[in-house]
Amino acid sequence: MSIGILGGTGPAGTALAARLAASGLEVHVGSRERTRAEGVAASLRERWPGRLPGLRGVTNEEACGAELVVVATPWNGAAPTTARLASALEGKVVVSMANALEKVGDELQALVPARGSITVAVQQAAPGALVAGAFHHVPARGLAHLDEPLDGDVLVCSDHAEATSATIELVDAIPGLRGVDAGSLSAASAIEAFTAVLVGINVRHRVHSSIRLTGLGARP
Ligand SMILES: NC(=O)c1ccc[n+]([C@@H]2O[C@H](COP(=O)([O-])OP(=O)(O)OC[C@H]3O[C@@H](n4cnc5c(N)ncnc54)[C@H](OP(=O)(O)O)[C@@H]3O)[C@@H](O)[C@H]2O)c1
Repeated sequence: MSIGILGGTGPAGTALAARLAASGLEVHVGSRERTRAEGVAASLRERWPGRLPGLRGVTNEEACGAELVVVATPWNGAAPTTARLASALEGKVVVSMANALEKVGDELQALVPARGSITVAVQQAAPGALVAGAFHHVPARGLAHLDEPLDGDVLVCSDHAEATSATIELVDAIPGLRGVDAGSLSAASAIEAFTAVLVGINVRHRVHSSIRLTGLGARP
């Protein structure tokens, strides 16, 4: 399976790209500038020699040619970027991982974006795409270290059953992560806002926490 990552040159996009490519997937790291994406892909391959054979840097437009596309831009760039590329995303599963957070004093607080969540705004920006929300609670820092074991659940929400199952499959491709169907896009506002709680915990306890649900039965 091929994965395109819009805004794939930031900490979240590069970490996800490395994990997915290390799992054997073809990953197209997208950027507004091709040279930036190529540089990021080259430095990831240099950091993890021989472990990311399917990773390359491309423009965001080219990244939309992948079978599944992840939006990893800052929250305020997610819907505008998706809207600009909406025709290329028609019929595709598009995963939004953006959290609308704002620094207030010493802490990051959750904003209530227009339409309630960035995931819903992304779906409305590309109405022909099958949008899902996922990866909101996975800290880039832990994800970026390929030798650091992961152990977390990733909440997946969508209004499209096909997007939910494809996104859960994507999450499950990363060892140590489990995708969990968290319902429709109406869950996205709570999922995104909860990231502010986790970031606060991370700052307070100097950790990189994520979430793991109890009561769901054995993990695969
Ligand atoms: N960092 C984390 O631990 C983490 C964890 C979970 C979820 N997230 C979410 O993942 C997303 C990415 O996080 P990040 O820390 O990697 O973000 P970031 O570094 O601020 O941005 C990622 C990339 O997006 C592109 N970009 C910047 N501004 C843009 C705009 N206005 N429009 C379009 N593209 C723009 C840039 O790439 P080019 O200049 O190359 O185009 C940048 O490298 C965020 O929405 C965040 O809430 C982050």
